[in-house]
Amino acid sequence: MLSCKHIMTMDDLTPEDIVTILDTADSFKEVNERRIKKLPTLRGRTVVNLFLEPSTRTRTSFEIAAKRLSADGLNFTASASATVKGESLRDTAATLSAMACDLVVVRHKYAGAPQMLAECMDAHIVNGGDGVNQHPTQALLDLFTMREKLGHLEGLTVGIVGDICHSRVAGSLVPALRKVGARPIIIAPKMLMPARPDILGAEVAYSLDEVLPELDVAYMLRVQFERAAQMPFPSNREYARFYGMNAARLGSAKPGMIVMHPGPMNRGVEISSEVADSPRSHVLDQVNAGVAVRMAVMYLLLGGADSGAAA
Ligand code: NCD
Repeated sequence: MLSCKHIMTMDDLTPEDIVTILDTADSFKEVNERRIKKLPTLRGRTVVNLFLEPSTRTRTSFEIAAKRLSADGLNFTASASATVKGESLRDTAATLSAMACDLVVVRHKYAGAPQMLAECMDAHIVNGGDGVNQHPTQALLDLFTMREKLGHLEGLTVGIVGDICHSRVAGSLVPALRKVGARPIIIAPKMLMPARPDILGAEVAYSLDEVLPELDVAYMLRVQFERAAQMPFPSNREYARFYGMNAARLGSAKPGMIVMHPGPMNRGVEISSEVADSPRSHVLDQVNAGVAVRMAVMYLLLGGADSGAAA
């Protein structure tokens, strides 16, 4: 069981909760490798995916996770929900509450939307990404992938490279890494750093090449052109030259350094196609881990342990 009712930010989780989630996800990963990938664990429970911002992998990942645990799932997307008719998030929450939903996964363009839902619903809330704030299940699946590929988390040096200032992924990954005893370094040009990078709690670097030899993981972030008010650097080529992961940079990294990216990737900007498709890149392993980790989160929040074994 977890110590919290909701997972809205990494602050909700203790280091013990994180280990519980990763260990539970390990057994679900094994279920995902079977021919029949379904368990009866959450039969009769209702999970709502309230995705009011574009998403492919996170929404489908939660959807598959709910299905594999036999929960009843409902999907709301921005274009297909009453929000386009002007309904407030509070009214949407009241409506879902009246239908007795057990768990709501919410993605929203405003930071704090999950907290607002938690205030007006009884359901468990899981943050599927709120504005530029947090994306905790992404950080959990990233930890899962690092632990699986490198064997441990404590003491790892993880460079999070790129668009830090718009990144809810970094917002969750930095505290997640600190909780498990790893060493996060945020690496970006000044234009893509938050105004007070020190507040995030990571070491700060402005040159990728300077810190590259220290990294066990290079975690490349997508440049979020859609959130930037203006082009944050002179050209994509210039960005790739100083902050992109490419074959030449892999050559000056530790031989065992792995490359990760939350997706979707801008190939040729933060990561070259050659690296993205190489065995050093674990992008698809992250997607694969995402299903198991989200199954674990739903199972643990909804008290699945009371109604049967995990696997
Ligand atoms: C991230 C997101 O939406 O915050 N993607 C994801 O969840 N897989 C990162 C991004 O959009 O760049």
